[in-house]
Amino acid sequence: MPALQRASKGRMFSIQADLPRLPVPPLQQTLDKYLKTISPITTPEQYQKTAEIVGRFAENEGPELHELLEKHAEGKDSWLADWWLNTAYLDYRAPNVINSNPGMVMPTQRFNSDEEWLAYAARLIRAGIDYKQQIDNENLEVEVLAGQPLCMIQYYKIFSTCRIPDLKRDRLVCYPPNKPNAPRHIVIIHNNQFFSLDVYGTDGRPLNEKQIHKLLSKLVSKSQTVGPPVGVLTTGNRNSWATSHKRLAKLGNNASHFDKIEKSIFVVCLDKPYSGTQDPGADEFTLSARQMLYGDGSHACSTNRWFDKTLQFIVGRNGNIGINYEHSPAEGPPVASLLDHMCNYLASEKENEAARGTTDIEQLEFKIDKTIEAAMETAKTEIDLFGADVQLTGHIFDGFGKNFAKSIKQSPDALIQVAMQLAYYRDQGHPCATYESASTRMFQLGRTDTIRSCTPASLAFCQTMHDSSDRAVQAKAFVDAVHAHREYTAAAVAGQGIDRHLLGLKLIAIENGMNVPDLHMDPTYSKAFHFNLSTSQVPCKNPIVLCFGPVVPDGYGFCYNPRSNEIIFVVSAFKNCDKTDSQNLTNRLCESLMDIKALFPTSAKL
Ligand code: COA
Repeated sequence: MPALQRASKGRMFSIQADLPRLPVPPLQQTLDKYLKTISPITTPEQYQKTAEIVGRFAENEGPELHELLEKHAEGKDSWLADWWLNTAYLDYRAPNVINSNPGMVMPTQRFNSDEEWLAYAARLIRAGIDYKQQIDNENLEVEVLAGQPLCMIQYYKIFSTCRIPDLKRDRLVCYPPNKPNAPRHIVIIHNNQFFSLDVYGTDGRPLNEKQIHKLLSKLVSKSQTVGPPVGVLTTGNRNSWATSHKRLAKLGNNASHFDKIEKSIFVVCLDKPYSGTQDPGADEFTLSARQMLYGDGSHACSTNRWFDKTLQFIVGRNGNIGINYEHSPAEGPPVASLLDHMCNYLASEKENEAARGTTDIEQLEFKIDKTIEAAMETAKTEIDLFGADVQLTGHIFDGFGKNFAKSIKQSPDALIQVAMQLAYYRDQGHPCATYESASTRMFQLGRTDTIRSCTPASLAFCQTMHDSSDRAVQAKAFVDAVHAHREYTAAAVAGQGIDRHLLGLKLIAIENGMNVPDLHMDPTYSKAFHFNLSTSQVPCKNPIVLCFGPVVPDGYGFCYNPRSNEIIFVVSAFKNCDKTDSQNLTNRLCESLMDIKALFPTSAKL
């Protein structure tokens, strides 16, 4: 199956209306697959009990719920999109930082002076605007996956978008370029102080790097002292932040400042140099990942942020560069494409003419009171505790990359996933429920489904590697596991996964005032959705990697960028859990990858 790639299909939305709608998979197919997927993670007794529950569901409420779901899907562009936005993101009350917002690490820079730092930031801003212009003009090529064109709507939702905290459910606002009065400004945060900067002249042209640089220098000299850490409130629990947000909105011009931030094309965080990382033993790559994921604590950069903003570029004076993005409107690939474009732009000689009719920077000074001061102190303590608990390991595995997998005629993604199954098995001594994101963008408004990478075949492979020393037997078990993974992947991207269907059956029962089915209340169901391994491939042509936190307290996060001859990845874990250790899993993964390579000795030279 081909990777996400560019195809000259014409303008960005040329095929949008022709995209099929996400199907509701056949009920029995989902139930059969569900039983298959739980078999490696249950005891025979648990499995038997769950098989009986599933059987009763198929004979009783299952068909009725399935029919109601099909009715719900009628006439909609997507039966899932709104439900997913709410259940996966906007209803979620825990902080979006670390739990939901990924960080992305771009190549580290060396800045010998503030001028070099700001010149780089100016060029990075111009690179982002360059990409936005392609989106505004609908000039991006339609992406394809497995020969099928993909829904491009997510590209329209990454700029000028923001999440807004509210009690019970947050809101997501987006100001796309085809609507009147499309935003023309970005917001810069430096020393916790906020500034709005118009990036277009009155002639409609974007400012060039020199013009942006001049304005950045001005705002940096205006913000030499550290401002009140209002941005740290965005790291909080959503209800706490919503309460502070409502209070702040009533003070001074704060409501108008919120509006400026929400509408801004993107936010840029100019991070001060800092010492006092929450992980003193970490290497440069891992430190950069910490800065991108959550700002590395309130004494570092966690206060110099607005974690509700979809795109938040980070340009550290220490040379750490990347992004933190709020996940609700889009998955990683559109953001990765943007960063790839920006890296290429930054490396190019491209120069732009100056815009005419530029405006000055505008400072957004928040008015705060004693209650907000106390809320900021609480938020600082909480992000420091949460951040200190996060263990990250960034690594570049240089034993091989996609080329080796292709040379042995196996899917690189499946190879990495099977290697991770082996690594986890070696780390923990048993398999676990595993999540890999599968894109369902072949469909209108498609987002993701789950590839359940832990399969009976992957477990058989892990056991064979443990119990047998016969290379041929091990190699066969490996190929079987890869094929099982590919089969699951092909089904998931074709809308035949099981996770979203099972969610839909539960939500439709709730919407119709029916009881949540026993199937969803079964402890095995909780186990199947307790993803000790949460994984995702986000490919980039440049050496960029995404990172995120574990999704359960005793779990691991794992995100990787497979390149031709190396695999860049970040593993995360929580230090409070004595069963997990991101460095151990990294070591086990590197060993597992090399052990797999050794199963194919004729390819050793690759
Ligand atoms: N023999 C030789 N080459 C093979 C092969 C085989 N058996 N199987 C695959 N390949 C090649 C592909 O043609 C492709 O080639 P390319 O590099 O020239 O494009 C390459 O190997 C990569 O394919 P593969 O590793 O199989 O992965 P994929 O591109 O099909 O991606 C997913 C798999 C699951 C990652 C993808 O379908 C997906 O859903 N991506 C989106 C995930 C997402 O949204 N993540 C973000 C969440 S925030």
